[in-house]
Amino acid sequence: MTDQTILSIRRPDDWHLHFRDGAAMRSVVPFTAKQFARAIVMPNLSPPVTTVEAGAAYRDRILAAVPEGITFTPLMTAYLTDATDGNELARGHAEAVFTAAKLYPAHATTGSAHGVTSVTNIMPALEHMAQIGMPLLIHGEVTDSHVDIFDREAVFIERTLSKLVRDLPELKIVFEHITTADAVAFVDASGPNVAATITPQHLHINRNAMFTGGIRPHAYCLPVAKREVHRLALRKAATSGSGKYFLGTDSAPHDKSAKESACGCAGIFNAPFALESYAAVFEEEGALERFEAFASENGPRFYGLPLNEERIILERADIVVPELLALEGLNVVPFHAGETLRWRLKA
Ligand code: DOR
Ligand code: ZN
Repeated sequence: MTDQTILSIRRPDDWHLHFRDGAAMRSVVPFTAKQFARAIVMPNLSPPVTTVEAGAAYRDRILAAVPEGITFTPLMTAYLTDATDGNELARGHAEAVFTAAKLYPAHATTGSAHGVTSVTNIMPALEHMAQIGMPLLIHGEVTDSHVDIFDREAVFIERTLSKLVRDLPELKIVFEHITTADAVAFVDASGPNVAATITPQHLHINRNAMFTGGIRPHAYCLPVAKREVHRLALRKAATSGSGKYFLGTDSAPHDKSAKESACGCAGIFNAPFALESYAAVFEEEGALERFEAFASENGPRFYGLPLNEERIILERADIVVPELLALEGLNVVPFHAGETLRWRLKA
């Protein structure tokens, strides 16, 4: 621990986020807009965001939910399907609607039913993206039911990602929400076009958290938390100072009733205290001086976007995370519910 009491950094961005739509979206947007200047918004709505028009309309709905007096820029993504046309992606990118495109292997997670069944099917679109410098964001898990759920990320690297990086080295790839030492080793060993986001939950919890004294649906997300050895590898990567790792919360709100159910949804809602949560990790690792790079510099540098000039201040002060947030259209249990965090974002 440190006796530092103030942390002043460039305003951070969230490079992986779920906003949903409708009333739930309007309820959760302010939490992110308060903490971050920009966020990469996931397209796994129902129906998914596959066209430039749908991306632009969704962006407008998000912007309308940003509280007055706050500047926040949603960066939109296209949802890749087997039928994706590279020209549509290129048009969206040229019109500054789509910052990137997201690859969900079909049936890997929430809202992925229309995802890609084989990367072979989207190779022409990916080649097009490589040509125009549009990043590919990957949910890196195989969906084969014979593969153990805790091995799905490692097997995805082996079966799919290694080949893709070899075949298309010029394509910028963000390996999203990595959860394993295998992913860290892969990203470290890859060239400068491969980077990764890391969520707060995968830095804080290992798979035991899902089974502490009973089944704990609020610790369940996908990719699922892994063994302790993997959590430690992620903490080392995030706090290493390497430019390949950056902040991506994967904040994914689901109503309490949908989490606490016989078939509970995957997703952890961490948006309200995301910076506080990450700061705890950097402090515990004795790496507070490297927090700004992870939160505010590595992401924009990888995406080729300007760094934010505005600054934020985190101050040393205890903050108790509520057990439940009763929002319009959504009752949600936040990450760290009931816990005390030791840093607080200064308003
Ligand atoms: O836990 C998750 N929730 N992982 C995902 O990949 C999707 C997300 C969601 O949309 O709920
Ligand atoms: Zn996600």
